[in-house]
Amino acid sequence: MVALLGAGSATAAVDWSKIEGQNIVLLYPATLSWEMLLTQAEHSGADKFRDGRTCRQCHDGEESNSGGLLVADKKSEPLAIPGKPGSITATVKTAHDGENIYIQLAVDAGKQPDAGMDKDFETKVAFMFDDGKVNEAANGGCWIACHDNMAKMPSGGEGDITKYLMRSRAKMARSGGAELKSADELQKIRDAGQYLEYWQARLNPGAAPNVVDGTVLEKRAETQSAVATAEATQVDGKWVVTLARKMAVGAPYKAFQAGTTYTVGFAVHAGHSAQRFHYVSLEKTLVIDKGKADFVARSNNR
Ligand code: HEC
Repeated sequence: MVALLGAGSATAAVDWSKIEGQNIVLLYPATLSWEMLLTQAEHSGADKFRDGRTCRQCHDGEESNSGGLLVADKKSEPLAIPGKPGSITATVKTAHDGENIYIQLAVDAGKQPDAGMDKDFETKVAFMFDDGKVNEAANGGCWIACHDNMAKMPSGGEGDITKYLMRSRAKMARSGGAELKSADELQKIRDAGQYLEYWQARLNPGAAPNVVDGTVLEKRAETQSAVATAEATQVDGKWVVTLARKMAVGAPYKAFQAGTTYTVGFAVHAGHSAQRFHYVSLEKTLVIDKGKADFVARSNNR
């Protein structure tokens, strides 16, 4: 077994063997955008979702089925990658040591065709967070950032629009269009904390992970140098990837603290895939120390 440490990694502080893992299923979402999900004629859950039902209230446990349908359906996926599995299962563990928060995802993506899209990295593991400030995040998870007009989506084509939140757009057109609110207005939204944070580990077998992090408001905006660190090992095709950062680092990062419920979305790009050709989880919740959530990050000093 080879342990590969990213810069400044401190995950050795956690005794992972003492933490129970939770399995989650990540599905291939094809071209299913926020706009489609909100349109009753295209998604029969739309009206109820608008009335306050969450994705999970209707779809928990159906991820593998849904991914299987979407990956094979020509209408949902016009740019099919032959042989792509419709879902993958991962195991998540969380911890903190009073100073840092740690999230570990273990995944065997199985037999993956080489999509040839990302020549630099075989696999990418990402976590995306809200801390209750983006009101649609708790019910809609990752899908709130996924739109019709993004790159490789049906009306995005070869354009380069990345993830964004509708509140960044000037118009209330179906996918908000490309026109942004003014810089002043966007700054006010940022100051109110209404954006998502993400961390991503970019992986190749036998190499140290490359880490990026940033925020999603009007676009996916990477920070100059990531505060998140990563540690990754791969044994028999299974990646165990731990991402961590200090709980309090200041803007634009969110504060991780007891008493807040965070919405977390998990994403895995497998088989040299890029952009929307990934696997994603439904919305999950995370709390620090105590509370009701899918994941409770507890102090676990060695
Ligand atoms: C009120 C229940 C309900 C809610 C809430 C709901 N859905 Fe659905 N969803 C459905 C039903 C029923 C279908 C199948 C028929 C269809 O496609 O219209 C479906 C279809 C889907 C599919 C296509 C694959 C499949 O299994 O048919 C996906 C993926 C999906 N929904 C994701 C979501 C996401 C993401 C959310 C939250 C933003 C969500 N749904 C909210 C009921 C719901």
